[in-house]
Amino acid sequence: MVPGPTPTPPEVAAAALLPVEDERTQAFAGVFSRVIDNLRRTLRTRNDVLLFTSSMTGAFEGTLQNLFAPGDTVLVASNGAFGERWSQMAAAFGLEVTEVRHAWGEPLDMARISAAAASPGLRAAIAVHCETSTAMVNDIRGFVSACAPLLTVVDSASGVGACELRTDDWGIDVVVGGCQKALMTPPGLAFASIGERAWEQHRRAGLPRFYFDWDETREALRAEIPRTPWTPAISLISQLDVALRQIHAEGLDNVLARHVRLGRIARAGVRGLGLRLFSPDEDRHSAVTAAEMPPGVDATELVDRLLDRYALQLAGAQPPLNGRVLRIGHCGFMDEFDVLTALSAIELGLADLGHPVRPGSGVTSALEVLHGLHSPSPTAARTARDRQPVP
Ligand SMILES: Cc1ncc(COP(=O)(O)O)c(C=O)c1O
Repeated sequence: MVPGPTPTPPEVAAAALLPVEDERTQAFAGVFSRVIDNLRRTLRTRNDVLLFTSSMTGAFEGTLQNLFAPGDTVLVASNGAFGERWSQMAAAFGLEVTEVRHAWGEPLDMARISAAAASPGLRAAIAVHCETSTAMVNDIRGFVSACAPLLTVVDSASGVGACELRTDDWGIDVVVGGCQKALMTPPGLAFASIGERAWEQHRRAGLPRFYFDWDETREALRAEIPRTPWTPAISLISQLDVALRQIHAEGLDNVLARHVRLGRIARAGVRGLGLRLFSPDEDRHSAVTAAEMPPGVDATELVDRLLDRYALQLAGAQPPLNGRVLRIGHCGFMDEFDVLTALSAIELGLADLGHPVRPGSGVTSALEVLHGLHSPSPTAARTARDRQPVP
């Protein structure tokens, strides 16, 4: 239960074992086109969606290469490791960065962002949707309007498929994401949705690019037999196809509602264990839950203990939060029982490290929340997913 790479459903794992298709066949083009269509549904966009064989950072670099010229200035709103990484990446490509930096775990301050966005010469504003390093889900709709009319780029690595994201309704020009978090597929694929204004700005982009060239990629996608310009990770695309079909068979709204439920019970459980929440206690933060450690307990030690003794993998945090914060990932192929199991193990792990808690206190608080939810039962959700056909 780390916030990615996440577990894969059995059918997604099984799809890796199929014989590798030639990507230039009509049969594989059908799979590829379905993946693109389902990604557009998942991002709730009518924009072009381009798929790349790389981790998400590759597609982030591609976004910089395809939108900017050397010396362009970009605004980056950061409140965690991944926002700060965008500033480093942009600087590495020779861009000027106006960073509106917030403390880790602080919500984005739209007044500050709006004031910074008003300075002349900016080419785009960049923010992270779910800041995985702290579990904070940023208000992207508010960000887009605070920056208007600037072009916006959103890193939705751990947001897409777990947290509400309305690319077209919110007017996001570019959204970049990948497959190894809520999309339940092993790592290695990334994608970008690109709106009309971003294509316009792309025409004057002047950074060197080749592998991630958006024109090449779109041209290949629009060919008679849709494909990617270079050899893609064929098996991963087949796996992503199965995962996306499962997501849309469950229904995107149901999937997002399940994540909201998981967030609610995780937060209730953390509070029940007597721990302080690091991430805010609001439904928006539905992909990851972050808990502060009590005095005398080191999160890294707890993570090691849980893995060694209870075979449960959670995540600590990166500096400056390392040792202080524990992160429970509950995005993707997860249900309520996974969270209840994690809470049980955390309780035992805390006791092992000399911080005893009342037996069952985390699970009880989580179950109380679950009893109060009159939405479909967790068993129903799991059964619906298990009914999906094996490819
Ligand atoms: C918000 C966010 N951005 C970027 C990344 C980097 O993605 P990748 O490791 O696939 O390049 C991650 C991965 O954890 C992430 O959570």
